[in-house]
Amino acid sequence: MEKVDGMSAERETPLILFGLGGVGRALLSQILEQRSLHRERYGLRIRFTALCDSSGAVVAPQGGFTEELLAGILQHKEAGGTLASHRLGRSYRSPETIVEEIGGPGTVVVDCTASDSTVDALLLALKRGHQVVLANKKPLTVVQDVYDGISGSLGHARWETTVGAGLPVIATLNRLVSSGDEIERIAGSFSGTLGYLMTGLEEGRSFSETVAEAYRLGYTEPDPRDDLGGVDVARKALILARGIGWHMEMEQVEVSGLYPERMADLSVDSFLTELPSLDEQYRELVAGATAEGKVLRYAATLSEGACSVGPTAVAKDSPLGRLTGTDNLVEFYSRWYNPNPLVIQGRGAGVEATAAGVLSDIVELQGSGVRGQGPETVSGVEDTVG
Ligand SMILES: NC(=O)c1ccc[n+]([C@@H]2O[C@H](COP(=O)([O-])OP(=O)(O)OC[C@H]3O[C@@H](n4cnc5c(N)ncnc54)[C@H](OP(=O)(O)O)[C@@H]3O)[C@@H](O)[C@H]2O)c1
Repeated sequence: MEKVDGMSAERETPLILFGLGGVGRALLSQILEQRSLHRERYGLRIRFTALCDSSGAVVAPQGGFTEELLAGILQHKEAGGTLASHRLGRSYRSPETIVEEIGGPGTVVVDCTASDSTVDALLLALKRGHQVVLANKKPLTVVQDVYDGISGSLGHARWETTVGAGLPVIATLNRLVSSGDEIERIAGSFSGTLGYLMTGLEEGRSFSETVAEAYRLGYTEPDPRDDLGGVDVARKALILARGIGWHMEMEQVEVSGLYPERMADLSVDSFLTELPSLDEQYRELVAGATAEGKVLRYAATLSEGACSVGPTAVAKDSPLGRLTGTDNLVEFYSRWYNPNPLVIQGRGAGVEATAAGVLSDIVELQGSGVRGQGPETVSGVEDTVG
């Protein structure tokens, strides 16, 4: 939809946002802050049509959201309110029904939830010719058919922040793949928390001490096992594997967590109390790596069709081996990047950096693909919509 203001034409992009947690709220406020940049540089105005959290939705009233109303919703969420309890809020049956009811021509559907309940909504959006942007890894890591449905819509879908947050990991992978370069190996550290733990071990501190410290500093999830289990890293590895073109399911990713099964059902306090029982095992692992001139990293490794995630001894003088602290780092070894890999390193988490990455995806999509054509079918997604 074009809005003519004096001499300049401004294109409006309707946007449905699912998820108003840390990332969704940061995205909303960045969009409001960047209005003039988007207008002046791209002739673009992002027009929210619906905001949804797990409780309900606020749909744009007649005439659209004013900036004041959007700022008010942001404050309402920041104060711990739910959208269902907002004066304009209402409940909704499923994310899919929101896309069905609200998604007009040229809509971008943005998934900033941490739920797989958005899958049908995303596939429906693509089927209708909308665009989708995901910060949420879950839809890309359920069955391969869903990944294919989302990723098969070239120019219609982006998910840059699902691996390495604001770092251009997916874009780099896509560039290598699209040029026909052969990716031989990817190795990466995709968890700031686990990177912090590995640095602690390398510095000679005990496993229990380092985990407890990360927990105290708020570097871990409220239950540290959510980080230590490696599942989040495994999801990122699977997204990369599928990005290379491998057909792979989550069960095929070999995941070695950092605590044994017997500690899975303990309370968080008991888990932390039990941690010293693992210290000796990690001391030996570190000593074994050191004896080989290596260091221990919690790495995702993709090589020869196999994908594994776990503590890995890597060469001390490799980019991964030199990594310290909470940065993410990924090494791409390919036909053209060998023996020295293409390396990306930097902050791999944080709501502002992630929201900025989502916003870049939205803006970049406006310059690609077919826009505002009304209902249209994108090949590859018809059969996967439930
Ligand atoms: N934080 C980071 O640094 C980072 C980096 C890269 C990627 N990501 C990914 O970005 C996503 C969002 O992260 P976050 O930190 O913002 O998480 P969060 O604070 O937990 O927020 C999640 C949001 O999703 C909403 N939600 C959950 N289920 C929903 C549903 N079925 N329909 C609509 N909304 C639903 C929640 O609703 P309520 O508000 O009602 O609870 C909440 O607003 C996650 O998938 C995360 O993995 C995060």
